[in-house]
Amino acid sequence: MSTTTQAVTAREPEIRCEGLVRVFASHGVEVQALQGLDLTIGAGELVAVVGASGSGKSTLLTILSGLDLPTAGRARVAGHDLTTMGARERLTFRRRSVGFVWQQTGRNLLPFLSAQENVEAVTAIARTTRRRERAARAVELLDLLGVADVRDERPARLSGGQQQRVAIAVALANEPRVLLADEPTGELDEAASVGVLEAMRTVNEARGVTTLVVTHDASVSSHVRRTVQIRDGRTSTEVLRSTHVDEHGREHTIAQEYAVLDRAGRLQLPAAFTEALDLRERVRLGLEPDHVTVRPDGRAPDRPASDDPPGDGARPDDEEPR
Ligand SMILES: Nc1ncnc2c1ncn2[C@@H]1O[C@H](COP(=O)(O)OP(=O)(O)OP(=O)(O)O)[C@@H](O)[C@H]1O
Ligand SMILES: [Mg+2]
Repeated sequence: MSTTTQAVTAREPEIRCEGLVRVFASHGVEVQALQGLDLTIGAGELVAVVGASGSGKSTLLTILSGLDLPTAGRARVAGHDLTTMGARERLTFRRRSVGFVWQQTGRNLLPFLSAQENVEAVTAIARTTRRRERAARAVELLDLLGVADVRDERPARLSGGQQQRVAIAVALANEPRVLLADEPTGELDEAASVGVLEAMRTVNEARGVTTLVVTHDASVSSHVRRTVQIRDGRTSTEVLRSTHVDEHGREHTIAQEYAVLDRAGRLQLPAAFTEALDLRERVRLGLEPDHVTVRPDGRAPDRPASDDPPGDGARPDDEEPR
């Protein structure tokens, strides 16, 4: 291993969740929104989170933003332990360490302030920027997100895509280490969505802010290097994309899908695999020099005795040693 690799692995990840559980009780029924979720994200990464409706994506982001607490498990974000921090640290964490963008464009911006005033208001409340510098810093951010030309407009006069880009500027105003966005393109058409995702990539690269973006849209993965899939409240698979240049100078993107292995050695097999080989209840594992095999149990499914093939009279019980 080179020393560079060692240095990178030794650095504390910017987001680390271990065995996160969140149980909601509503009308006497328990809903396990997160069921032991593990997730590690390094500083400066841009990661997409995908998953079916109800899989726990918003629950995860709400916990990471410090707005909600897990029922069990641990979560560290930007050097803060979310499960043990007190009220005062939580407030500072929410104001300075994380920025948040919601799906509903109307929820991100104050309607009676212009785009620029929306950004300035955040730094004024948190007192992170001196009064004289506020305007210049706001314009710089709006410029980075490609919406400096509409800085004097109120949200109602902006398109959905422009509103979300201003919302990202607002989320970044206090220079947080982590940017969390819950379906920021959910209300936008295809073209506007691409614009917003490209804007997020730009700020990720320009500012090095660790970014987690939740989306329903599977095509989003083509904009990011790493996509994490959540299934039933757990991270189940990840897709990593890398770009290679071949001997003719052509760029190729390679996408490789991985299953997520947790600290206890558990992994979730994709439904397509379990269905194709009818894997159920238990499987046979084998250790090979460089891989592990998973085989069907090999037993006939439970059926009434009359269904047994003729001639197959042997019963496992008869063979038991006494
Ligand atoms: N405050 C709450 N009270 C009760 N149940 C909740 C609450 N919040 C979420 N849930 C439940 O937890 C589960 C996960 O919800 P969550 O909103 O995290 O899913 P999601 O992946 O964000 O879905 P979507 O893609 O539809 O936004 C769902 O079954 C949901 O009904
Ligand atoms: Mg959601």
